[in-house]
Order: sequence, then C-alpha cells, then structure tokens
Amino acid sequence: MTNHDQHRTRRDYLGDALMRADLHADPFQQFSEWLQEVIDLGSKDATAMALATADADGAPTARTVLLKQHTPAGFVWFTDSRSHKGRDLASNPRAELLFYWRDLDRQVRVRGSVSALPSERADQYFHSRPEGSRFSTAAAQQSAVVANREELESRIQELEARYPDGNVPRPEAWIGYCLEPRYFEFWQGRVNRLHDRFRYVLKDGTWLIDRLAP
Ligand SMILES: Cc1cc2nc3c(=O)[nH]c(=O)nc-3n(C[C@H](O)[C@H](O)[C@H](O)COP(=O)(O)O)c2cc1C
Repeated sequence: MTNHDQHRTRRDYLGDALMRADLHADPFQQFSEWLQEVIDLGSKDATAMALATADADGAPTARTVLLKQHTPAGFVWFTDSRSHKGRDLASNPRAELLFYWRDLDRQVRVRGSVSALPSERADQYFHSRPEGSRFSTAAAQQSAVVANREELESRIQELEARYPDGNVPRPEAWIGYCLEPRYFEFWQGRVNRLHDRFRYVLKDGTWLIDRLAP
C-alpha cells in the first residue's frame, strides 16, 4: 500500500553560515549576489519565483512566474492581467515573491506593493520573446476555461496564417508588473534545523536588519 505519510521524508541542510556581518546593507545587493550564485551553479529555473496574491476578501493563491528584471525600483514579471493573479492584483495590489534555491538550501521572500508597468515595457519584452511563445500568449486569455488542447492549437494556426511574418500583436492584457519591495527575508539552511534567517524592513527610507528565529 502506498504510504502517504511524509514524516520520514527528511534531509539535512548543511549550507554555509549566513552571518550578520556578511550581509550587505542593501537587500537588493544581497539578492543580486545570491541570485548570481545560483545562476553560476547552473541551477535550473533560478529566476522562477512563487507569486502569492490575495483577492479583495483575502483569499490567497500562489503560482510560479519568472523574474524578468530586478532593480531598486522593483521586481518585474509578465503575465495576463485577466488571469486569476491579474484580477487579484487589480483589487488588492500587494504580493509576496518567494524564491527557493534548493541547490544552495536558500530561500528569499520579497514583499511589497505591485503596480502595472507602462505598455511600452510589455511591448519591448513581448517582441523579444521567441515566436512560438508569442503565438501561444496571443492564442488565448490566460486562466480561461478551454474545451480541449485542439481549440488552442487551431487558434494558433489561425494566428500563424494571419501573421505569417510572426509579428503577432501583443494582447493588450498581457503586461508587466513591478513589485516595489518593503520587506526582504533571506534564509540559509543550516545543520540541525538551526537555520540562519534575516529580515530587512524598510523604515523611513532605511533598511533595518534583524535576525529571526528559524
Ligand atoms: C517554471 C514556471 C514558470 C512560469 N512563468 C510564468 C510567467 O512568467 N508568467 C505567467 O503568466 N505564468 C507563468 N507560469 C504559469 C503560472 O504558474 C500560472 O499557471 C499562470 O500564470 C496562471 O496563473 P493564475 O491563474 O493564478 O493567474 C509559469 C509556470 C512555471 C511552472
């Protein structure tokens, strides 16, 4: 019989120490350094992040999206504003991003308010994507119910016939979002579950750093 009990599924976390003295005063710099380390390691989907949103009633949902840019102005991803997350963000423009970098036993959480980017940013990025991705994005409204895969494939064929040069227009609803961080948390897995965990909170323009119990 299959055992659905996960109590015995455990492993040790043996990451290097993360000490207060090693942290950058600027969490963006800390994030950039950690992201670069995981990219350099060749980890798959280093830029994949869980995006947690909530609707106007507070009902939460989460899904994976890809980080496309990060600067002190914010963390950027692209999606369909008609999707579940797009509707959540329209009524409750706050979110948390979560990166789990298993190869380094690290987790980063980034919390803040979210705004939609100007359409030029979406145009720029949309037209830099591979042709197949552009057609797939243009074929359907994300998160809408579809009868079957054939429905999507025939919609793509129609678009390919209509735009033989591949220049399918960006769906107006497919846009960029930017999360402006007010909170960061860096977690480093350590031996015996005594993990290192630091938060950065923005207060009066200064990032305050505290160690948290794991
Ligand atoms: C690795 C990975 C990367 C993804 N990247 C994106 C992305 O950048 N943008 C996006 O809209 N959906 C992306 N998705 C799909 C989303 O997780 C999700 O299924 C979709 O956006 C619909 O979510 P929603 O209905 O909650 O809005 C990705 C999924 C995975 C597994």
